[in-house]
Amino acid sequence: MKTGTDDVKHGLAAAAVASPQRADWTVDQGWGSYTPDHHAVWKTLFERQTRLLPGLACDAFVDGMRRLPMSAERIPNFEELSETLHKATGWQVVAVPGLVPDDVFFEHLANRRFPSGNFIRGAHELDYLEEPDVFHDVFGHVPMLMHPLMADFIQAYGKGGLRAQGLGKLTELARVYWYTVEFGLVQQTDGLRIYGAGIASSFSESAFAIRSESPNRIAFDLERVMRTHYRIDDFQEVYFVLDHLQDLLALAKTEFAPYYQRLDSGPTYQPGEVLSTDTVRQRGTGNYHLARPRKA
Ligand SMILES: [Fe+2]
Repeated sequence: MKTGTDDVKHGLAAAAVASPQRADWTVDQGWGSYTPDHHAVWKTLFERQTRLLPGLACDAFVDGMRRLPMSAERIPNFEELSETLHKATGWQVVAVPGLVPDDVFFEHLANRRFPSGNFIRGAHELDYLEEPDVFHDVFGHVPMLMHPLMADFIQAYGKGGLRAQGLGKLTELARVYWYTVEFGLVQQTDGLRIYGAGIASSFSESAFAIRSESPNRIAFDLERVMRTHYRIDDFQEVYFVLDHLQDLLALAKTEFAPYYQRLDSGPTYQPGEVLSTDTVRQRGTGNYHLARPRKA
């Protein structure tokens, strides 16, 4: 999940790599270097997630997946993926060795390049992810990048990120990415659906986000979201819900400067808080997190 922690980093691994091969941190995907075991992990993840997502993922995700050269049989080749993606929305997928520095990440997004980890998690850690791997990045993010709204929104986020960095507002901006691109829900006429990659690529959180009675589900409000911390250590306590995916269009065009000014003062909110000003879609019981004390 490229947006990192609430303390904010898009590039946790930046310090771990002394000097990138290239200035933009991209590497060759090294598709030929994947072993049968790597492809087998992909297959396991792909098949169980594909079985799970009907009725949980939004129509745009399902449609994007259907149109991409992506199958259970092998880890996708980024060049093939990019060919289809570029024709649809002008985006491409580029390989990176892990998380990259914030400015590098934003620069890629601003130019319609989605940086994807080229490695895959081990067979013994299917549900544990320290850094976004190829399954999270490709299975989770790329289907939505086939949709023009998400394509424009993430590019706008990249441009906004470069500005926010200069203004010292990355923490606030990263919350927008977190609660939309990674953990966003949308209300379809046939029910609540996932569009966030962090959920769509997670076996356990996919069902939790839609079906559990525990989390709060609150109508998306930009300033509210920018004031709300998030959890990186567990399922989310709150999901912010768009009425329509089209709402991303307005969000992409929003001038953030007035928001940043207002955010200089006023409260921030804990993930489990519900405010009197919220439009609550579903008030959660909180039971899941009450039974699992937050890690120190
Ligand atoms: Fe992500």
